[in-house]
Amino acid sequence: MSYRPVILVIQFLCLFVKTNFSLGTGGDTISANQSLSGFSTIVSAGGVFVLGFFSPGNNENYYVGIWYQVDPSRSVVWIANREKPVSYYSQLRISDGNLVLFNEAEASIWSTNVNSTSSSVQAVLRDDGNLVLIDGSNRLKILWQSFDHPSHTFLPGNKIGYNNITKTHRVLTSWKNSTDPSRSLYTFQLNETDNSYILLWNKSISYWSSGPWNGHNFRSIPGTLEVVYNLRFESNKNESYFTYSVKNTTMISRVFLDVSGQLKRYNWLSASKKWDFGGSHPSQQCEVYSFCGAYSLCDEKSLPFCRCLTGFHPKFQSEWDLKEYSNGCIRKTELQCRDDSADKVGGDIFLEIPYITLPENNQSLRAGTIQDCESKCLRMCSCIAYAHNSSGCSFWTEDLVNLKQLNAHDSNSKSLHIRLAASEFQDHKNKTSKFLKSKLLHVMLGTMAAAVLVLSIACSVYYQRRKKQTKSQGDKKKILEKQEVLLYDTEKQIANFMKLGQFREDERKGIDVPFVALESIIVATDNFSDANKLGKGGFGSVYKGKFPGGQEIAIKRLSSGSGQGLEEFKNEVTLIAKLQHRNLVRLLGYCVEKEEKLLLYEYMPNKSLNSFIFDQTLCVRLNWELRFDIILGIARGLLYLHHDSRLRIIHRDLKTSNVLLDEEMIPKISDFGLARIFGGKQTEASTRRVVGTYGYMAPEYALDGLFSIKSDVFSFGVMLLEMVSGKRNTGFYQSEETLSLLGYAWKLWKDNKVWDLVDATLSASCNANELMRCVNVGLLCVQEDPSDRPTMPNVVFMLGNETASLSNPKQPAFISWKSPFTSTSSSKPLSVNELTTSIVQGR
Ligand SMILES: *[C@@H]1O[C@H](CO)[C@@H](O)[C@H](O)[C@H]1NC(C)=O
Ligand SMILES: *[C@@H]1O[C@H](CO)[C@@H](O)[C@H](O)[C@H]1NC(C)=O
Ligand SMILES: *[C@@H]1O[C@H](CO)[C@@H](O)[C@H](O)[C@H]1NC(C)=O
Ligand SMILES: *[C@@H]1O[C@H](CO)[C@@H](O)[C@H](O)[C@H]1NC(C)=O
Repeated sequence: MSYRPVILVIQFLCLFVKTNFSLGTGGDTISANQSLSGFSTIVSAGGVFVLGFFSPGNNENYYVGIWYQVDPSRSVVWIANREKPVSYYSQLRISDGNLVLFNEAEASIWSTNVNSTSSSVQAVLRDDGNLVLIDGSNRLKILWQSFDHPSHTFLPGNKIGYNNITKTHRVLTSWKNSTDPSRSLYTFQLNETDNSYILLWNKSISYWSSGPWNGHNFRSIPGTLEVVYNLRFESNKNESYFTYSVKNTTMISRVFLDVSGQLKRYNWLSASKKWDFGGSHPSQQCEVYSFCGAYSLCDEKSLPFCRCLTGFHPKFQSEWDLKEYSNGCIRKTELQCRDDSADKVGGDIFLEIPYITLPENNQSLRAGTIQDCESKCLRMCSCIAYAHNSSGCSFWTEDLVNLKQLNAHDSNSKSLHIRLAASEFQDHKNKTSKFLKSKLLHVMLGTMAAAVLVLSIACSVYYQRRKKQTKSQGDKKKILEKQEVLLYDTEKQIANFMKLGQFREDERKGIDVPFVALESIIVATDNFSDANKLGKGGFGSVYKGKFPGGQEIAIKRLSSGSGQGLEEFKNEVTLIAKLQHRNLVRLLGYCVEKEEKLLLYEYMPNKSLNSFIFDQTLCVRLNWELRFDIILGIARGLLYLHHDSRLRIIHRDLKTSNVLLDEEMIPKISDFGLARIFGGKQTEASTRRVVGTYGYMAPEYALDGLFSIKSDVFSFGVMLLEMVSGKRNTGFYQSEETLSLLGYAWKLWKDNKVWDLVDATLSASCNANELMRCVNVGLLCVQEDPSDRPTMPNVVFMLGNETASLSNPKQPAFISWKSPFTSTSSSKPLSVNELTTSIVQGR
């Protein structure tokens, strides 16, 4: 099957675009007869900012925005059409003297909306992040500028304040959630009455104030700001505003109103290519007004921060989803509001919420005792909660917001009794017992949202390169060009494009990554030359491919006799394309052509974890700190696989050789060829085909073909012990005894000699507390009975929390090293070969 027709179609599309409009890419200007579309961008003259289309949810909703060129995570600083997403095929261009965004149907979605008659209007992206509309004949006159319409980010040089002439505020408004940039209820603005800056909820309630300007700083903000920034506050009869610049002019700095309702400061660390957190206001999440919405309790020390006192909205699958959305908690059952307080069956019940701050807007009641207070509230239909103390009885009639969890010995803590329908009361009881706390999970959820595909360079690059190249060119060059188009095309084009391909309708569904033509892969890998071979995995070899522009990609070539059939292949493609996590290897594309099945992954220069920990010289590079970070990374990646609310994925072949390390030694779980998606609540299944790797397989899986999230937990436990000890579970044996690594670790644990387990190269850098926790958790994970093993949220919590109390492990499975697959009692260690094995169980 050839994809030539498709290539032609795409080339034609590009040509079409080219001849009608020259793409803005490369320049900093959009002028008449130019347009910007899904795949093109303009870059400010000094290369600081980029303007283009982006999709925060990685879906069909595109927005026009500005972001930093250096930042691969694309932290957007300004958005044009924040309330109205458009498709990838929309166009931003000059029309009737304005910069206008047209959707696919050529309807105007957003416009700079100025009165201008000039025909030489241009939009220029400047190095300060300001997009300005100017008249080509008088470039100094600014007709419109994005600085006048800030989104959520306060860039150096912009002014946030109040205009006395137009009587308008220039404000920052946060996003609704991390995938929806439309305006939330949180704003940052000037309070012109006392020249302070405030954070407001619904333009009415202030929940933080900077304190008034005192000439060089704001009263409530610590003085350290002046070290980094030049701050200036200006107030005259025309306007009052605050502005700042960064002292170190090469430093990239931004201040923005986060979805959390907090004003946050970040500076870019160019060495590590990361944003360095500078501070937030208010510093506590629970101080953000109504962050959790009604009927929800905010707990600064738990994650997610918000916990429903009532049920949660059916559109959410779990409390984790509530993190970014307030008003997720609702009453599932209306209050019964019956007067027969004596007969509580089917009526309302009060739930006591201890150790909290009371909500505002209370009213008072005269009542002597708490029973008195309760029965008076019950008799009033509008009373939804009461609190009683020595000075009397308070009650509430409006939605309860800003309930904050305090700790038990906080002298300010109070108890609130909230009124629930009896059935809801029961739900609540069941739910709270399952509630889980963890800081690490919070971090994980954050990073999940941040992951965005970088693979998008457009036709323009293609044409630019083409221009540079001379006319005479061999086949190879042609292929390279085509491939640029193919490789950098986006999901939607690929979806269309695949309609011409060999996948049937049902097979195509759900594949979100580009198809890459075989011929371009052949060129990139020099026809799968040995020099480009990176290694051999369970189902075939992995090659390094060099694509135009120098991009390096790892290409997994599934051998025909590998056992991975079309089914597993589709499984892997569909699965990984959907997954976005910092600790999972990212799939960039795939190819099925002729006999070949190929998967394109991000290239990991540091290879896999096993090549470090089991290597006498390389293992020294993994000091304890790094090792512990890697362990946490793997745990988070696995947690994401197991507990992401939409899919539940069991990896089934977790082992150190399936954990790759990127240039910063961040671990990435790879090889999902064996993974299985489970439906929402399903946690266990069985298979006739047991596939996995000796030494990492849980007993119930190896022996009975039963796999579950707990069999992955077992494999994780083995890896954990391997990382601590620097020894393989397979191939490990104590000279005179036939103990497996698990057995050996267990013996040392019982004898209180855990230190003997530790890799000799680690002892200098070791943190004893972390190490003990790792061994303890590792042993908990490899317990014989799956139900004794912790789940990944528990594991992440136990590893990351110094004060977590850990239970004592029971004896692990496979303590002596016999192959689970043979009945002989040979004590010889299994081969150290780590290839994935597939056996068919007769069941
Ligand atoms: C834009 O295109 C029109 C016709 O296609 C042409 O007359 C005009 O000169 C062009 N303007 C610029 C600035 O290139
Ligand atoms: C916000 O305020 C407006 C009036 O100022 C009110 O109508 C609206 O209900 C408020 N929104 C919420 C969520 O309370
Ligand atoms: C205020 O605005 C007027 C006209 O817009 C201008 O002439 C004047 O210089 C401004 N005053 C200050 C203090 O900026
Ligand atoms: C200024 O910032 C750049 C980039 O962050 C950094 O490399 C440089 O060391 C800084 N200079 C000073 C004087 O702090």
